[in-house]
Amino acid sequence: MNNQPFKFDEIGYWSQLKLEIVEKYGAAYTKAFAKNPELKKYYIDAFSGAGVHVSKETKQLIEGSPARALKITPPFDGYHFIDLDADKTDHLRSMYGNRQDVDIHTGDANDYLTHTILPKIQFKSYTRALCLLDPYGLDLRVQTHNQ
Ligand SMILES: C[S@@+](CC[C@H](N)C(=O)[O-])C[C@H]1O[C@@H](n2cnc3c(N)ncnc32)[C@H](O)[C@@H]1O
Repeated sequence: MNNQPFKFDEIGYWSQLKLEIVEKYGAAYTKAFAKNPELKKYYIDAFSGAGVHVSKETKQLIEGSPARALKITPPFDGYHFIDLDADKTDHLRSMYGNRQDVDIHTGDANDYLTHTILPKIQFKSYTRALCLLDPYGLDLRVQTHNQ
């Protein structure tokens, strides 16, 4: 058992810039669905983190990609947050666990994406998704195929 107190990840300038891009791109993405209300749109954050970081420079708290996705308007119809680190998903649950439109999964994104989430996002079932794949390194083994 890990008895160390949970610490948020520290992030620098480039990660903060990435988060701003995610927020802006997400807003443009959901806006593009305005003329197609029959389509359900989902946000998938496969390496979600805890939802909060600490700035390396200022030591202030910074919202992570799940928090930013949830602020996007028009909103998505549902959200999937996945992280291998249970401390991080516990923190996400403490913030968003009571929301019906948020699914938080602790485990390997490669497995959960491939076997559980992506099979539900299909062109023929009018579902679409914006999927953020943001691992630290190159731990990505997801295979996709056309439906
Ligand atoms: C760069 S951080 C994500 C930051 C987050 N997207 C944000 O911008 O706020 C990468 C995350 O991937 C998680 N991770 C590493 N390997 C993983 C795996 N195989 N499946 C799911 N999460 C993983 C780590 O615990 C870490 O929280």
